[in-house]
Amino acid sequence: MYEILKNEKIATNCYLMEVVAKDVIRNAKPGQFVIVMAKEDSERIPLTIYDYDKDSDVLSLIYQVVGASTLELSTISKNLFAVSGPLGKANEICVHPELFKDKKIVYIAGGVGIAPVYPQVKYLKNHHFDIDIIYGAREKELLLIQDKIESVAHKVFYVTDDGSYGDKGFVTNVLEREIQNYDLCVTIGPLIMMKNVSELTRKYHVKTIVSLNPLMVDGSGMCGACRCEIEGKPKFACIDGPEFDGHQVNFDLLIKRMHIYKEEEKEKLLQMEKDLGKDCEVE
Ligand code: NAD
Ligand code: FES
Repeated sequence: MYEILKNEKIATNCYLMEVVAKDVIRNAKPGQFVIVMAKEDSERIPLTIYDYDKDSDVLSLIYQVVGASTLELSTISKNLFAVSGPLGKANEICVHPELFKDKKIVYIAGGVGIAPVYPQVKYLKNHHFDIDIIYGAREKELLLIQDKIESVAHKVFYVTDDGSYGDKGFVTNVLEREIQNYDLCVTIGPLIMMKNVSELTRKYHVKTIVSLNPLMVDGSGMCGACRCEIEGKPKFACIDGPEFDGHQVNFDLLIKRMHIYKEEEKEKLLQMEKDLGKDCEVE
């Protein structure tokens, strides 16, 4: 059991959870993820690490309520049944900052994809990098942790779909305007965004790292649930990733796989909403 210190709503369908997880934090590095279980019989949910404090043993996670299991997660307040991790490989720039010293780096985040961007940019700031961030959300209310990212980034370009804050449009609109200033991109967010960012950067020959979050079950390379195709070869996001070269990812296959369980997920969500009562519904 892992003690929950906080599990609070920070925007529509977005939650911040803080949990004491000493064994996980001891080895955590930027870019890694954990798999959590709300209760003993709950589904396993992969979540990228938002922050971790090795002094207080507090692990922070930001998650979006999108289905039955994340809805259940949003209702618990005392203990998490399980937190497995850290899983996956750490961000390659944070592992070998010395190899990237001469690069002009931009992070491109979409929606809750900003959560795993924060620890990477924080780590790189501590290693004397000036990192810019292009951060897009549907509307102003969905722009998360602005103070935190502004405290670690060199510059933040905000963009909202409806123009309610920053530029109007998608992250790709801002990237196309600014791309001549960069020679390395890291992008985390919806698959379609990472696909479009990668297509754009391919045109300009800018290396691009993406962080994939396909369906996962065991998180240890045994079940095959997170299989993706990289440069025509099968890879497992949980152990070979989650980061890959965006120009080598078969995004169309991943997008197709993401929709396989749509109907089952919808039914499960309806059942969970019924079980939890009328105050617990996805907005
Ligand atoms: P969203 O659908 O609201 O999109 C966020 C932003 O992405 C948009 O505002 C826009 O700027 C950009 N975007 C969206 N569609 C685009 C397109 N077609 N072309 C170019 N840019 C586009 O995002 P959300 O609802 O907050 O969802 C966040 C997603 O991030 C989820 O799919 C989640 O699974 C994913 N995520 C991934 C990781 C990871 O490690 N890979 C971590 C956290 C979240
Ligand atoms: Fe099972 Fe990756 S989640 S192989």
